[in-house]
Amino acid sequence: MFGRVKSLDAILATAEKKSLHRSLGAFQLTMLGVGAIIGTGIFVLTAEAAQKAGPGMLISFIIAGFVCAVAALCYAEMASMVPVSGSAYTYSYASMGEIVAWIVGWALILEYAIAASAVSVGWSNYFVGLVQSGLGLELPTFFTKGAFAAVGGGINLPAVVIALLVTGLLVLGTKESAMFNAVLVVIKVVALTAFVVLAVPVMKMENFEPFAPLGFGGISAAAASIFFAYVGFDAVSTAAEETKNPQRNMPIGLIGSLVICTIFYLLVASGAIGAVGAQPVFGAAGEALAAGSKELQQQCAALAGAGNVPLVCSDEALAHVLREIGYVNVGNLIGLAAFLALPSVVLMMLFGQTRIFFVMARDGLLPEGLAKVHPKFHTPHIVTMITGVFVTMAAAFFPVGQLADISNSGTLFAFMTVAIGVLILRRTAPDRHRPFRTPIVWLVGPAAILGCAYLFFNLSGYTELMFLGWAAVGLVVYFSYGRRKSHVGRGLVEVHERDTDAPPQPVAPLPGGIDLND
Ligand code: ALA
Repeated sequence: MFGRVKSLDAILATAEKKSLHRSLGAFQLTMLGVGAIIGTGIFVLTAEAAQKAGPGMLISFIIAGFVCAVAALCYAEMASMVPVSGSAYTYSYASMGEIVAWIVGWALILEYAIAASAVSVGWSNYFVGLVQSGLGLELPTFFTKGAFAAVGGGINLPAVVIALLVTGLLVLGTKESAMFNAVLVVIKVVALTAFVVLAVPVMKMENFEPFAPLGFGGISAAAASIFFAYVGFDAVSTAAEETKNPQRNMPIGLIGSLVICTIFYLLVASGAIGAVGAQPVFGAAGEALAAGSKELQQQCAALAGAGNVPLVCSDEALAHVLREIGYVNVGNLIGLAAFLALPSVVLMMLFGQTRIFFVMARDGLLPEGLAKVHPKFHTPHIVTMITGVFVTMAAAFFPVGQLADISNSGTLFAFMTVAIGVLILRRTAPDRHRPFRTPIVWLVGPAAILGCAYLFFNLSGYTELMFLGWAAVGLVVYFSYGRRKSHVGRGLVEVHERDTDAPPQPVAPLPGGIDLND
């Protein structure tokens, strides 16, 4: 079952002799990372983290950031060694075989597609808040919240619109240009800096007490959810092939963007906690209420009736804090920054998803028709549209917290597999050229594996069940379709890009006598 390993040589040898120009330096990579990372996590989910951990969410941000850092170092080695599209899916194909690759690819659908849905819903929250606070218009809940949201909505129309819009752009072939990304990074960084500058001076130390009202369990649960705020750094590792001196620049880009985001997140979270407090809302009998639950919603509604909206009840945490401390207009500007910048995070996630589907279809594990490229736009338009519909449906009906958690489950699984893959390849292919090597890999690798497992098991039982259900569906699809159609299984090995940095590697002749060395 584990025998179908795609040979690294076959992956690396090129059919198209496509080699990308190595143009990215450490600075651009860091910007790329920050652009993909900062999004709904910090702008919206801070409120959920506070409900789970109280002020202790500061520790949650550190834990999640650390797990991402060690996972990133493993990711970077794989990305530099196998610098082709498909990220964790392709890496697993080369290190652990087809079935693991399939499960990882299947889990990556959760990571990318569901994250795109989550960020769309987060965007919708800010859109609604902006319309309400800026224009004084109250939009009906039925059209601004999904049917599965605790407030009992119907269809989240703003989220639907943004998801469809981004899908349309991708069909037309929009890519994040470095310039556009830089502008959005500046907008996000300025917004977060403004938040810190205004919130930190009015911090009250008593707002940090009690620091961990729900104990370390709460801090761990918040870490598992807030992990979403860091997702996206893998965008950096996928640019391995376009990076100058990857051994130096790749870790700077990965760790640099994570460190920058962690510092921002800690400052922003401290400002929010200190300025308005971040204690969880408890039930009438003093019981802890689950983030995103109906009970919490009712309690929040009761508090709002009395004119008190705590941080944990807010849909747009950062704008809310600023409005609470008297900066209504700056709060609206922060909302505007989220409104402008979050769609690019949706774009990156959707883009990642379509490329993974594309590669899986090219490998024969999904119907090859999906990989058709549009004659005029040169984009995989069919797979993009299917993904877009899927993302839009999830965004239409589900609340952001649930979507983010489900996305995290897939991401954590994929990261864990990559870390295992790095260790396996160190053993099975020790001499292979590695433009970037994970430092102290026998410490960093296991730390990434254990860290991801720890966060995964701190997700809610519901989320874990959804993950298992999704994996089970994936196995059914694999055994009823992919296993029979797989190109590797059928002995067809197609070849793609190659690592231009690597010394020439002789490639074993393929079945059928095709010699790629010719
Ligand atoms: N890290 C990204 C966000 O927070 C996915 O929106």
